[in-house]
Amino acid sequence: MKDIESKEIAPEVTRRDFIKTAGAGLFAAPYIASGWAQTPPSDMVRHAVIGTGGMGRNHTKNFGNMKGCSLVAICDVDPAQLGKAFKDVPNADKIQKFSDFRELLKDKSIDSVSIAAPDHWHTPMALWAMMAGKHVYVEKPCAHNIKEVNLLVKASKSFNKCVQHGTQRRSNGAHIEGMKQLRNGIIGKVHTIKAIDHQYRESIGKAVAEAPPAGVDYDMWLGAAPKVPFTKNRWHYNWRWFWDYGNGDAANDGVHQIDVAVWALGDRYPKRVISSGAQYFYKDDHETPDTQTTIFEYDDTQIIWEMRLWTDYTLEGHDNGNVAYGTEGKMEFDRAGVIVTKGKEQIKIEAPEAVEAIMPNFITAVRENNPAKLNSPIEKGAIATNMALLANITTRLGAPSLQYDPVKEEIKCPGMDKQANAMLSRTYRKGYELPWKG
Ligand SMILES: NC(=O)c1ccc[n+]([C@@H]2O[C@H](COP(=O)([O-])OP(=O)(O)OC[C@H]3O[C@@H](n4cnc5c(N)ncnc54)[C@H](O)[C@@H]3O)[C@@H](O)[C@H]2O)c1
Repeated sequence: MKDIESKEIAPEVTRRDFIKTAGAGLFAAPYIASGWAQTPPSDMVRHAVIGTGGMGRNHTKNFGNMKGCSLVAICDVDPAQLGKAFKDVPNADKIQKFSDFRELLKDKSIDSVSIAAPDHWHTPMALWAMMAGKHVYVEKPCAHNIKEVNLLVKASKSFNKCVQHGTQRRSNGAHIEGMKQLRNGIIGKVHTIKAIDHQYRESIGKAVAEAPPAGVDYDMWLGAAPKVPFTKNRWHYNWRWFWDYGNGDAANDGVHQIDVAVWALGDRYPKRVISSGAQYFYKDDHETPDTQTTIFEYDDTQIIWEMRLWTDYTLEGHDNGNVAYGTEGKMEFDRAGVIVTKGKEQIKIEAPEAVEAIMPNFITAVRENNPAKLNSPIEKGAIATNMALLANITTRLGAPSLQYDPVKEEIKCPGMDKQANAMLSRTYRKGYELPWKG
């Protein structure tokens, strides 16, 4: 979990607007009765977290300690994960626990949910949640395939819900200021942006089939994915490296880096995707590449995403960052900040004012029932997620290149149109079909 930005603790929430969501008026009584909430309940957003693994516990900690927000329920199919989630959360004994998220969603007093389950669950859960009237914070990548990404964007509009995508760099003040200055021409015209994913991820070895841990609802963990025997690798955290649940590091850290690059270009799709990747390093259960290079081609520029998971040195000083190359200088973005280099001069870009971190920003938008307030709205996260997924489709097909039409939602891939378009979606296991078709 290299990429969780450390300072996402909620700043004080000052707005006290009444929540306009359908269920908001229903929750006052139990909270006045329990005396739990110190702020009047009508000012409180009642939030739940689904999936309490590594990132889910970042959510429980942040939302659980945030002013103006009450963490009221958590859900996980693994009771051991639920148990760990109470650390660092006040009033833990008051938080409801669920193993089936559909039961949690029946609680009309819950205003919003975080989805921090594995990627193959993101869109199904988000759709269920919006159908139940909840606002959604969905972890990146927002979906497991392109059809799901696009459905999610449509659903957010159709249900008029706040849907925040977990790409937190859009809430980083130096990044926001850097983007402004980039557009004002501080480095001239930008004709290449690198998206750098250069980090060591150790081998996961080979795991044998065994019974799932006691008390775990493994069928529910698998969801839409094929029913296969449990192994310790197809499980917490390492599911990322299996196509049935994740999409490798392209859809993992790659989405952060691609998101910063498309943000710099004004959030637009490329006209062509060229990508190559393979496993040169791992000799284990990994299905996804350890090495991948993708060029996203535009009329006026290129994004070059470079992934190497077997290095402990950096690329141009970055393990997880971006470099925008302009005609008059370059701008580097990473977790440490934003730096411009022009000739021998280096300028550190500073945020002129404090910016709400991604989680409190979500709660502000929910309180105001205003998706326009979101720093990482789903329609922007959708572009980066789709681009990561297109990189994988090109790589897996071994195609020279492909073109994606975001309006028609179609791929053109000479000689391989049919195979490429078949990869826009997946087969859903019976009982786990998508609940909303748009
Ligand atoms: N924004 C970031 O920087 C960042 C960082 C890390 C992870 N993430 C994202 O967070 C998500 C979770 O990643 P993780 O590393 O915490 O994974 P994880 O495997 O540690 O946790 C996932 C949890 O979801 C639970 N789960 C699975 N199916 C479920 C279901 N049907 N109902 C309820 N719970 C279910 C699992 O039991 C597990 O506890 C991923 O999508 C990942 O990409 C984002």
